[in-house]
Amino acid sequence: MNVKNLAKQAFEDSRPESPKASILVVDDDQFMTTLIQTHLQNQFYQVWTRNSVDEAIEVLCNEKIDILLTDLKIPGSSGLTLLDQVNREFPSTISVVMTAYGTLDSSINAIRSNAADYILKPFEMNELSEVLDRALQKKELQEEYQRLKNTLSSIGKPSSNQPTALMEDVVMVLHQLLCPDHVFMLYFDMSQKRFLPWEFGNLVLSQKNLFSIEMNVEEHLRVFRSGKMVKLHQDQLVRFFPRSSIPEDSKSSLSIPFQNAEKTYGFFVFFFEKEFQWSIEYLRLASVLTSNCAQKIENMALTKKLEHNTIEMVESLLRSLQLKDEGTSVHSDRVKDFTRMILEGLQMSQEEKETILHAAVLHDIGKMAIDLSTLHTDKPLTQDQVELFKQHPIRAKEILAPLSCFSKIIPSIYHHHERFDGKGYPDGLKGEEIPLGARIITIADSFDSMTSDKVYRNALTKEEAKNELLLHRGSQFDPYLVDLFFKQLEKYSFS
Ligand SMILES: [Fe+2]
Repeated sequence: MNVKNLAKQAFEDSRPESPKASILVVDDDQFMTTLIQTHLQNQFYQVWTRNSVDEAIEVLCNEKIDILLTDLKIPGSSGLTLLDQVNREFPSTISVVMTAYGTLDSSINAIRSNAADYILKPFEMNELSEVLDRALQKKELQEEYQRLKNTLSSIGKPSSNQPTALMEDVVMVLHQLLCPDHVFMLYFDMSQKRFLPWEFGNLVLSQKNLFSIEMNVEEHLRVFRSGKMVKLHQDQLVRFFPRSSIPEDSKSSLSIPFQNAEKTYGFFVFFFEKEFQWSIEYLRLASVLTSNCAQKIENMALTKKLEHNTIEMVESLLRSLQLKDEGTSVHSDRVKDFTRMILEGLQMSQEEKETILHAAVLHDIGKMAIDLSTLHTDKPLTQDQVELFKQHPIRAKEILAPLSCFSKIIPSIYHHHERFDGKGYPDGLKGEEIPLGARIITIADSFDSMTSDKVYRNALTKEEAKNELLLHRGSQFDPYLVDLFFKQLEKYSFS
């Protein structure tokens, strides 16, 4: 191999895999642009050259340009107009101006506000390299600042009150902060008592970022227990991940626990296609963010438990009052059983079903707030007595509304005397305007009332009660739910 080829080979060997930066050179002097292009390509820049403003804008629209290097005197429009447009429409492109000494004074303020730097013509090529290096550093700093600003504003946002949505918020913020190439998350599943991969249901990240891996969970937890993150360089990755699980081209990884003093709820694993070298401040910020969120999840769980205990306490209070009043097995529990049977035939979340079941138990709690003694009679009720009775859903709302844990339960209770044809009370809602829970409870309530002994009549047989429901199917009751109730009764041999 001759010397020329050896030099060429050495140059090729030293060429980085990706260009140093992309640069658009704009000048009406074609000889000048070609000279700059040759020099910058040798410096490993990716270079476009154009001779007018319009041509320059076209490149900016179609390519991701890191640096615009422009003369101020170019055809089509002035270089200052181009700078202004780049500033407004291509904020990620940084501008450097080439200008002759004679035109500098008049343009200096405009250059100051729109360009990162300038270079006086004529210049040496090594001078140009220094100016461009400074501009690139400035651009990196600007991007870093913007990323930190975005991260901090995301942290300040009020986050969701659902643990899953909160965790997804956190991974988005960390993604913004650390810019990993691949993201993975494990969470601790309470029912299975082990860490499982998180599906990232609503997370808007590219597919490349979401993947499934095997990993050494115990080894991770050991490091987390000592209060540290798992920071790995390329040769250390196999200690924590099977080789087949490591994403291609990964040169480093970082795992951050989602934990408070007592528990590790899960952890994020980030892989990078470059050597990991994040500043201590960034890592500290990520750590504070994840531990704050873990604490928030713990608080959510405690609040939920407290709310659940409050609802159960009110339910048991109601049961004891009803037992005293009726001296028999409790009406509200039977209504709950019939409600559960209907719910089993419906597609809805367990949480929604639980809410309706609580409403079934508490549906008549409003009766505790009105004097019903005059209603225990075998004579027909007077209009005043009917109006008094009709107050009980309103009273129920008044009793339960002060406690936020009842907010989702109240609608099913308040509307359980509405009719499907709109002739019910208290609001005269019609059809599907009536909350689903209320439409279910009214069937369960009516069926149990009809099949129980009353002061004014003996209990109907189950067949007679079914005929009554059938008679009022579509007028008083939701027809679909009546059919479903009959199907469920058959299934449980209640017919
Ligand atoms: Fe009622």
